[in-house]
Amino acid sequence: MRHHCSCTERCNKRHYNNVAEGQSPSTNLQGDIEFRGVHFSYPSRSEVSVFNGLDLVVPSGSVTAVVGASGSGKSTLPALLMRFYDPSSGVLQIDGTSVRDFSPQWLRSHISIVHQVPAQWP
Ligand SMILES: Nc1ncnc2c1ncn2[C@@H]1O[C@H](COP(=O)(O)OP(=O)(O)OP(=O)(O)O)[C@@H](O)[C@H]1O
Ligand SMILES: [Mg+2]
Repeated sequence: MRHHCSCTERCNKRHYNNVAEGQSPSTNLQGDIEFRGVHFSYPSRSEVSVFNGLDLVVPSGSVTAVVGASGSGKSTLPALLMRFYDPSSGVLQIDGTSVRDFSPQWLRSHISIVHQVPAQWP
């Protein structure tokens, strides 16, 4: 169950009442990633469409570079994968299962991310 935050200022996140809710498979992730027809806007900027029917397949074990202008949606990809937000429509699957079926907590414990902080590579 999730609800929208009641604060009115700049808060734009959907909060999950229970990030453990959903499947937490004991089997290992294979890691096949598939975005099919994904539409998404951030809740606080619903007038701006970040993805308008995105299709992207990243097979397990492959290396994929996503390149695009600032603001084109690169960082939004992992945010959707880890369910900080859910797409408004379309399908986002890992190993053939919709990420909506997995608990956010489980997803986040299986995905690593290195942020674009230049100080990490002095
Ligand atoms: N938390 C947020 N709330 C509202 N809009 C957001 C939020 N995060 C990103 N956006 C908007 O969503 C769009 C995609 O942003 P995103 O951060 O995914 O781009 P990016 O390709 O990673 O850019 P950069 O190369 O600067 O890192 C932009 O228009 C951005 O302003
Ligand atoms: Mg980014």
